[in-house]
Amino acid sequence: MAFVVAVAQRKGGAGKSTVAATLATTFAAAGQRVALLDTDPQKTLARWFAERAASPRARPLSFEDPSGWRLPAAIERMARDHDVVVLDTPPHADTDARIAIRAADLVLVPLQPSPADLWAMEGTLALVAEEHRRAVLVLNRVPSNGRLREEIARELVRRALPLLEPGFGNRTAFATAFAKGLGVVEAAPKGVAADEARAVAEAVATFRKG
Ligand SMILES: Nc1ncnc2c1ncn2[C@@H]1O[C@H](COP(=O)(O)OP(=O)(O)O)[C@@H](O)[C@H]1O
Ligand SMILES: [Mg+2]
Repeated sequence: MAFVVAVAQRKGGAGKSTVAATLATTFAAAGQRVALLDTDPQKTLARWFAERAASPRARPLSFEDPSGWRLPAAIERMARDHDVVVLDTPPHADTDARIAIRAADLVLVPLQPSPADLWAMEGTLALVAEEHRRAVLVLNRVPSNGRLREEIARELVRRALPLLEPGFGNRTAFATAFAKGLGVVEAAPKGVAADEARAVAEAVATFRKG
């Protein structure tokens, strides 16, 4: 059975779709069989995947955008013949976000260092707790000035919240790769963003059981 990771955060624009695409492509580049499922009706990743078809640098990746009653079966089917299943989720706490969280071995919550993201995160973590799932936070769009990261990290520690050690900086490479339907490890494998992607993927993989 696959390791199922849901990327969830109630705040729109927190980086869910970017982080989901980054993780999926990074695992794929490492030789894993990866399925990426877009459960957000905005279909950001469906657009991304359509762009991907045109790129020779794209590694093989299964993609679907199921919703509603089809979603649980799609997750189960993909989990059967892939090593990793990555789920992108809608920002609102609707049924599909809950289904994705319920199916996940790990819920990855991207968090930009801002009060709005911290507040929205609380709702996401409550949903994860209701579903008895495991959540871990990952900082996204962290400015190069380290002070803000330290402040947020301290606040998370104070609240005893789990934070991945590696995170993502605020880098145009993520958006540039995304626009081409790629991940940073495919578009710019030697860049700092790709280093971050590999470090985060490695940290996420440690949550895989046995
Ligand atoms: N680490 C990052 N560095 C720079 N831009 C980012 C980063 N992560 C996300 N973005 C940008 O932020 C915006 C929102 O990201 P997106 O992944 O669509 O968020 P969500 O899916 O949570 O709504 C996009 O324009 C995306 O390119
Ligand atoms: Mg999105």
